[in-house]
Amino acid sequence: CIAHHYTFTVKEVPYTKLCSTKKILTVNGHFPGPVLKAYKGDTIYVTVRNRANENITMHWHGVEQPRNPWSAGPEYITQCPIRPGSDFTYKVIFSIEDTTVWWHAHSSWTRATVHGLIFIYPWLAEPLPFLEADHEVPLILGEWWKKDVREVVEEFIRTGGAPNVSDALTINGHPGFLYPCSKSDTFHLAVQEGKTYRIRMVNAAMNLILFFAIANHTLTVVGADGHYTKPLNATYITISPGETLDVLLQADQNPENTYYMAARAYQTGNITFNNSTTVGVLRYISSSKAKTSLFSGSYPNLPFYNDTSAAFGFFTKIKSLFSGQVPVQISRRIITTISINLLRCPQNSCAGPNGSRLAASMNNISFVTPSHVDILKAYYLHIKGVYGTRFPDFPPLIFNFTAENQPLFLQTPRLATEVKVVEFGEVVELVIQGTSLVGGGLDHPMHLHGFSFFVVGVGLGNYKISDEDPSSMYNLDDPPYKNTMTVPRNGWIAIRFAAVNPGVWFMHCHFDRHQTWGMNVVFIVKNGIWPNQQILPPPDDLPPCH
Ligand code: C2O
Ligand code: CU
Repeated sequence: CIAHHYTFTVKEVPYTKLCSTKKILTVNGHFPGPVLKAYKGDTIYVTVRNRANENITMHWHGVEQPRNPWSAGPEYITQCPIRPGSDFTYKVIFSIEDTTVWWHAHSSWTRATVHGLIFIYPWLAEPLPFLEADHEVPLILGEWWKKDVREVVEEFIRTGGAPNVSDALTINGHPGFLYPCSKSDTFHLAVQEGKTYRIRMVNAAMNLILFFAIANHTLTVVGADGHYTKPLNATYITISPGETLDVLLQADQNPENTYYMAARAYQTGNITFNNSTTVGVLRYISSSKAKTSLFSGSYPNLPFYNDTSAAFGFFTKIKSLFSGQVPVQISRRIITTISINLLRCPQNSCAGPNGSRLAASMNNISFVTPSHVDILKAYYLHIKGVYGTRFPDFPPLIFNFTAENQPLFLQTPRLATEVKVVEFGEVVELVIQGTSLVGGGLDHPMHLHGFSFFVVGVGLGNYKISDEDPSSMYNLDDPPYKNTMTVPRNGWIAIRFAAVNPGVWFMHCHFDRHQTWGMNVVFIVKNGIWPNQQILPPPDDLPPCH
């Protein structure tokens, strides 16, 4: 039996990790938060009661929410925040999603502890495209700071530099026994020999792409970002913030041994990052060995931290299982750069590098989030002065994006709230080009609300520098159908979607530091002519703007 109404009470609860206690935001007292379950096509309601002392909003990551941007969640993009003491009921409309997605807070960095998985089941007699597993295992990879996350953000914004490196990575909230003071705070998975486990997992870390593996066990990927994939056997996986995977695990190894699962960061560019390893324990229930043997097991092999070909070797092996509707003809191609920038401050007054501050941009516009009225409300009610509609179709200059020295003006983007308006029914190809500006280039997990998109192309270097048409390298046969795709360092991706979901939809880098710096854009998809091609009316209890 699956519930159709949930209550999420957001409140602070003390948690102790790494021998240090702090209050964190939780849902119903839990970290990570509860699993939601739904059948494909269901509509569920989640009442979020804010009983904390900061603003909150909730996002249903990977749920397309047809015609219903009111429940999308990003603060000041599609709603004003739910203020302390207030409630708001989200209507979450599942339509085409098949596997695992997730939910998380979408106000400042509150998602660090406010998140959970969503398990989707096929409707009635619809068969699964793989053998049904005996058990399901929720698995959330995360990132933990000993400090209050609000302090981490405050300091990060004030200094204009990079955020403080987190203190631990976690598996289902547990750092694992490799960290000081965490021996008893380790995730344990007990399996039965001969059984199959379906791991439904997400990378909920704030700023890290992760490698993950389980010693001696092959992982069979059968789903990604809410959609079925061709079965893929892997000895390790790469998972970016925001991505979900469905992975089958066979308990087919020697039951007397202890096996570790482990995750650590994949990271390029010249930045400091959390290079520690989180470990969990996999044991067989039938094992006769005493509990003391838990800490003498085998470790999995994980790729080296900056191994780009290992990271993208995994990403590019993901193919969709059903890909009947890949758009072959497009009506519009939008090319956008994504860059890290250094913004000069008056009289070098910022505390970042050389008195400037770090920023991020798309097509040389560093996105400024409105602070009084959200963009959806401004669009729906025709409120002027909240956003502009001049997000360009092309970068300001076609140049060698990945060369050592970039034109100076590209280092200083314009701070603005520019959206991209798209007609209902347009078939959009979006090419996202990474650049080497500041720090020599980084990988960026780009996420779009309101749509799944086909990843038709992924490449290193420039999307177009020679006369050769890059689309000759596209995969239109079985491209993965995703909502988050990582742009390789100094490389590009090409994604396609049909703009048939009217609304206001956020797109951003799922590294929260880059989102905070402005690596964002908003798509407004206009209404179609028929009533069922138009945005639903706003709910009555929409949080008021001040
Ligand atoms: Cu999972 Cu806008 O984010
Ligand atoms: Cu980024």
